[in-house]
Amino acid sequence: MALLTVAKLGNPVLRQIAQPVDPREIHSKALQQFIDDMFETMAEEEGIGLAAPQVSRSQQVIVMECRGEGGFPQTVLINPSIVFYGPNQVEMWEGCLSVEGLRGKVTRPSMVKVRALDRDGTTLELDATGLFAVCIQHEIDHLIGKVFLDRMTDLSTLTHLEEFDQYWRQEHATVI
Ligand code: NI
Repeated sequence: MALLTVAKLGNPVLRQIAQPVDPREIHSKALQQFIDDMFETMAEEEGIGLAAPQVSRSQQVIVMECRGEGGFPQTVLINPSIVFYGPNQVEMWEGCLSVEGLRGKVTRPSMVKVRALDRDGTTLELDATGLFAVCIQHEIDHLIGKVFLDRMTDLSTLTHLEEFDQYWRQEHATVI
């Protein structure tokens, strides 16, 4: 296992369209190792989701995990696509390992259905709501060169982490 370096805003890799993974590559030792390294890096950085472009690899691989109540299990999404968006919207504070020290409110569909391959190469289709749905959308955005700042419709909520803790943490318990 190895820790990977997180690319920060301004690194062009975050703005590229990520390439799909060749399904024949999924079982390779190199890709399996990369997925393990992504999980290790995400845990070290205390994130709940990480997309491959965030570690400077422009490929369609996402890892996610959020322990505890309202969280979601360890999930790997390879070549994901959202095939259905629910009709309702949810507003959540978001942050990003590539956008250090900032939080902002983003409104997104509160339910999505996503289709992807898992780390065994098996097709997976899952319905996600709440934090899981928001995290999936946030991570898939990274595969198309977007960060949460691009999804903010009101930049006046952009907040430094310290000020977030001081003024806003009470308002919304859930932070991606
Ligand atoms: Ni992010």
